[in-house]
Amino acid sequence: MSEKIAVYPGSFDPITNGHVNLIERALQVFDKLIVAVAHNPNKTALFSVEERIEMIRVALKNDPRVSTASFQGLLVEFAVQQGANVIVRGLRALSDFEYEFQMTLMNRKLNRKVDTMFLMTGYKWFYTSSKIIKEAASLGGSVRGLVPEIVHQRLKDKFPAYRNLP
Ligand code: PNS
Repeated sequence: MSEKIAVYPGSFDPITNGHVNLIERALQVFDKLIVAVAHNPNKTALFSVEERIEMIRVALKNDPRVSTASFQGLLVEFAVQQGANVIVRGLRALSDFEYEFQMTLMNRKLNRKVDTMFLMTGYKWFYTSSKIIKEAASLGGSVRGLVPEIVHQRLKDKFPAYRNLP
């Protein structure tokens, strides 16, 4: 039987424990998961694509079932290049739905052979996002427990107010 491969795309700026939880869930369904970091020149990111990929690798402890990549341009084209016909996305609170449905329908219009599968994050991560984590950290608020340890450490390099946290 052929391997079931999915792409899990996102900005991952930075990866959170919610993302890690979703990756663990996706690995119960797929043999291989490609965590794909979007390189979007129109969006200002805190971490470079290389920094984001490094944090993902460390957070996932180099799990052989997971590979990392960056992509630019259309996600469905990237998925096809990678031999994946499923895109995995996480759903948290209701506020995610509209944006996710728009993206899914657009991706489906662009390529009907690539489907999107939604997985829910664990309830503990329902209200965490990379954006809110960056905001708290920039003001010196500890986000330990919400992000992998490597991210907690890397945030110290980005935000002076975060530097002195244990
Ligand atoms: O983590 P994010 O920022 O919600 O991820 C959004 C992402 C990267 C999945 C989305 O912006 C995307 O798919 N970008 C690639 C461009 C694309 O394919 N656009 C057409 C479909 S909407």
